[in-house]
Amino acid sequence: MKRIVVLLSGNGSNLQAIIDNINAGNINGVIVAVISNNPQALGLKRAENENLETTVLNHLEYDSRNHFDAVLLEKLISLSPDLIVLAGFMRILTSKITDYFDGKIINIHPSLLPLYPGLNTHQKVINNKDKKHGISIHYVSSELDAGPLIAQAAFDIKEINTKELLEEKIHIIEHSMFPFVIENICLENIRWNKKLKKVIFRNMGTINDSIQRKYEI
Ligand code: GRF
Repeated sequence: MKRIVVLLSGNGSNLQAIIDNINAGNINGVIVAVISNNPQALGLKRAENENLETTVLNHLEYDSRNHFDAVLLEKLISLSPDLIVLAGFMRILTSKITDYFDGKIINIHPSLLPLYPGLNTHQKVINNKDKKHGISIHYVSSELDAGPLIAQAAFDIKEINTKELLEEKIHIIEHSMFPFVIENICLENIRWNKKLKKVIFRNMGTINDSIQRKYEI
């Protein structure tokens, strides 16, 4: 069983999707802790409902990003995670953490990276009259929403053209695709090769093909 730590700041619907897939036996892993920088995060309640260990590290209580990250790093090391999942975690991690856990941290982002790192991706897609939108899952580096891509899924924007509808569609895709990627990381079908600096896929062609087939996105 792989040891998974989830970091979040808000609603936690992606955490819920991961929990549901673990409970259904789809993921060979266990969530050993959920950590939030936001004491009000609904995701913490979702974790408590499942009797998962929760930790709040409120960034406002630290005098600098380095101090916050030093405490977070210490906490993460104490948990010995195989995988750290950023599921709506609204803090940029410094290289102290990303270097220590190189190839062990993944993030989900609601855009087709490298398009639109950062916030308000749905609005940017609307403003630019884009024809496609989608999500990206990637290994985390100390650069915002950068780091090697693992998988992306896109959809055509037709009648879906409000922020709310785009968000709804994005969430549907995220809740299928994030657990699927985590499942395959836990099976070691997806891993980061430090030497080659490359994402390696095993038993699944490219994961994007598998996902396109599986979810008919
Ligand atoms: C998701 O859309 C994710 O892509 C982004 O933050 C959102 C988190 O949603 N990083 P939730 O808290 O999991 O509902």
